[in-house]
Amino acid sequence: MAENTDLSLVQDIIRAAGGHAASLRELTQRHRTDAVAAVLIDEICSRCPPPVNEEPVLVEFVVRTPGGQLSHWLSSVKDAPVRAVARGEDFVVMRIEYELDDLVRELFGPARAHPSGARETTLFPYAGSDGADKIGPYILAAQQATATVLAGCTSAKPDLNELTSRYLTPKWGSLHWFTPHYDRHFSPYRDEEVRVLEIGIGGYQHPEWGGGSLRMWKHFFHRGLIHGLDIVDKSHADEQRITTLIGDQSDPDRLAEIAEKYGPFDIVIDDGSHINEHVRTSFHALFPYVRNGGLYVIEDLWTAYWPGFGGNEDPARSGATSLGLVKSLIDSLQHEELPPEPGRTPSYADGHVTGLHVYHNLAFVEKGANAEGGIPPWIPRDFDSLVAASSGGAA
Ligand SMILES: C[S@@+](CC[C@H](N)C(=O)[O-])C[C@H]1O[C@@H](n2cnc3c(N)ncnc32)[C@H](O)[C@@H]1O
Repeated sequence: MAENTDLSLVQDIIRAAGGHAASLRELTQRHRTDAVAAVLIDEICSRCPPPVNEEPVLVEFVVRTPGGQLSHWLSSVKDAPVRAVARGEDFVVMRIEYELDDLVRELFGPARAHPSGARETTLFPYAGSDGADKIGPYILAAQQATATVLAGCTSAKPDLNELTSRYLTPKWGSLHWFTPHYDRHFSPYRDEEVRVLEIGIGGYQHPEWGGGSLRMWKHFFHRGLIHGLDIVDKSHADEQRITTLIGDQSDPDRLAEIAEKYGPFDIVIDDGSHINEHVRTSFHALFPYVRNGGLYVIEDLWTAYWPGFGGNEDPARSGATSLGLVKSLIDSLQHEELPPEPGRTPSYADGHVTGLHVYHNLAFVEKGANAEGGIPPWIPRDFDSLVAASSGGAA
C-alpha cells in the first residue's frame, strides 16, 4: 500500500476482528459491506498457496452480509497465483459461503486452534458436454482448487521455511539460516496488531525485485501492518497491509520522520546495507521508536569483520562495528551494576535494553524499562564479607 494510501479501513477491520461481536456489527455500520468484502478477498488471495490444479477452474466465493450476499470468483490454476476475476468461461467448480463476521474473524482475529465450521460448501456438477471420463479430472481439479482457496482463509501459523520459498526471500536455505530464530522470537506477537518495519526490501537497483520478506511478514503477522524501507523506490511491492518507503538508513532525520508517522513499532528488522556505521545509526535512531516489550533485530552480523563494510577483522577492535554495538548492549543491560561514576549518565540503551539473544549472524534486542535496580551498595562486595554476612555471624 503506497505511502499516502488510507490504511484506516483495513486497520478498522483488524481491530473489530479482535473485539466483541458487537464491534463487528458496528464495522458494517461504519463501512460499506462491499468495501469490507473486497479487503477480505484481497487478503485470501495473498494467503493462498500456489495452486496445483492443471485445469483452470473458478471457485465462487460468497460473502453473506446483513443486507444480502456478495459473490466473487477466484481463479485457480497451476503456475499462477489465485486471483479474483470476472465470471468467465472456466468451470465454476465449488461455491464457498461465509458470513461476513465469521470471515473477518477467521482472517484477522486472533488465531484459533480449532476453528469451527464457519463456512458452507457446494460442489457443482460437471457441466461439460463431453464424456463421463472427464468427471474424475473435474472432481480432482475442484478438490485441489478448493483446498488452495480454503488454505487462504485461515490464520493458522505458517511454516516460515516454506514461506521463504513461496515469497522468494533469502532468510533460509543458502547464506542465511534465520527462520527458526524468527519463529521462536516472533511467534508470541502473532495475534497482536503489530507494526513491523524492515530496513531493506531487497533486489537492490532492480526495479521489480524485492518485497519477499515483507510478504512473508504480512502472512506471518496476520493482524499486522508491514512497512519496508529501502534507498531504492520499491513501490511495486506495495499491497494491502504492506507500505514501502524510500529513505537512506544512514539518515537519522528520515528515520525519525518515518517512525513518527508509522510507529511506534513492535518490531524493527535491519536487513539493509549492512554497512557497520549504518547499522549503528539506524539502531540509535529507531530503537526509541520500538515500544516497550518490542524487538529490534539486526541481520548479517558477519560484516562486522569485513573492512569493506567498515568492519574490523580483529574481534578485540570491534568498537565501531555492528558487533561492537551488540557487545556494548550487554553492558547496557547490566549498567545498574557498574560502580557509580560521577558525571556518568545512563544512555538510552542503558535504560531500555532488557534482553539480548545473539545467534550466528543474527541478534534480537528486547526493549523495555531496564530499571530493576542494581545490587544495593550496602551488600558486601568481597566474597569473605558476603559469606560472613550471609552466615549470620556463625563461625
Ligand atoms: C539484503 S537486501 C534486503 C532483503 C530483504 N529484506 C529480504 O529478506 O528479502 C538489502 C536491501 O537494502 C537496500 N539498501 C542498501 N543500502 C541502503 C540504505 N542506505 N538505506 C536503506 N536501504 C538500503 C538495498 O537497496 C537492498 O534492496
